[in-house]
Amino acid sequence: MNGPVTDNARLLERRYRLLGAGAPLFYDEPVHIVKGEGVWLYDADGKKYLDVYNNVPNVGHCHPHVVEALYKQSQTLNVHTRYLHELVLEYAERLTGLHDDPLAMAFIVCTGSEANEIALRMARRHTGKQGIICTNHTYHGNTAAVDELSSIFHNGKAPGPNVKTVPFPETYRPLNGLAGETLADACAGEVKQAIDEFEAEGIGFAGMLICSIFANEGLPDVPHGYMEKAMGHVREAGGLYIADEVQGGFARTGKRMWGYQTSGVTPDIATMGKPMGNGHPVGGVVARADLVNEFREHVMYFNTFGGNPVQCAVGMAVLDVLERENLQENALTVGNYTMQGLWKLQDKYDLIGDVRGHGLFIGVELVTDREKKTAAAEETRLIVNRMKDRGVLLSNIGVYGNVLKMRPPLPFSKDNADLLLSTLDDVLATV
Ligand SMILES: Cc1ncc(COP(=O)(O)O)c(C=O)c1O
Repeated sequence: MNGPVTDNARLLERRYRLLGAGAPLFYDEPVHIVKGEGVWLYDADGKKYLDVYNNVPNVGHCHPHVVEALYKQSQTLNVHTRYLHELVLEYAERLTGLHDDPLAMAFIVCTGSEANEIALRMARRHTGKQGIICTNHTYHGNTAAVDELSSIFHNGKAPGPNVKTVPFPETYRPLNGLAGETLADACAGEVKQAIDEFEAEGIGFAGMLICSIFANEGLPDVPHGYMEKAMGHVREAGGLYIADEVQGGFARTGKRMWGYQTSGVTPDIATMGKPMGNGHPVGGVVARADLVNEFREHVMYFNTFGGNPVQCAVGMAVLDVLERENLQENALTVGNYTMQGLWKLQDKYDLIGDVRGHGLFIGVELVTDREKKTAAAEETRLIVNRMKDRGVLLSNIGVYGNVLKMRPPLPFSKDNADLLLSTLDDVLATV
């Protein structure tokens, strides 16, 4: 390489040597972040970035109430859950109290992957069957069993023999060009067909695991009635509905606390992660009491770090901030405000084919031809990088990678939204 070796180049060289070149990084020119505060991130040169991407620091980067709770509890006790301690009970009580009624018992774990792993085990144990249905563009975690659902890395197919994928429901690129109730019926029919195939193959059907807002799929608008119909088939066949709330949970959607509540169908099991600990490793599962009791009876499940007092103090502090700062309401108000601004940009730029989302989780699908809905993947990549250069962090999702992903920490304000919108306007004018 000619020219001066920059700090970033040195870090990259060390990273490749120590972590391997395959360890994923964002942006053509990666960012070296050294500090976070609220909705802001700072790089090593002191440049400030508006964070419109990170949902893990759900209540804001390094929120003082969460940091203090972690610090205080760390000074007193941090030990596993095979001793009696009130905090794990208080947290489990508060968490289950936030969920819909039948979800009355909890596991506290460390990651979303662990949470989904438990959910799969519980569904398979309960039904005595192996077959799991997921969508054709999804990711639910990195353990061996959960990775069998990673259709996102396998061209829409699930890599595991006991997993079948179904097309995710969407109205923008609808299955077979259908619309309305016929579309909902057809998408739900795919679920029924997968169930029938499992039964015919002798594998049997255990359950369907989906992200309640189909985030990795590109945050589609779901045909009305789909969830009732699809989960109707699931339950008729004796299977369980597992809602992955790792992305959609903890007030993100604005209207309600959990993504599944936006569809009106309550799952048998809900799994949680990312935003639960505001950056600290906290994950969880809530489920019907009979399912948890049955699982506990047969499986000695123990998680060394899951449910420890520091984790629970952090989890409680996150819930405190969500409540005290009215972040669910803020997600709804500022999310709607941002969507309105994006619709105005859609009037101005043909590149914007669709704007959709829930609260402060918004997808902007970019197309080079609105009629044909030709995915503008290269333009999306350019925009994400140019936004970063101008101090706004975004990413992209969707089957074609052409959906701008906007999912900021929940204290995101209207002023923050204005900065996002004006920067996007400037950048769109350059494409
Ligand atoms: C929907 C969904 N579920 C589960 C996971 C896995 O969570 P974790 O990385 O905490 O194991 C992810 C991670 O990206 C996710 O997007």
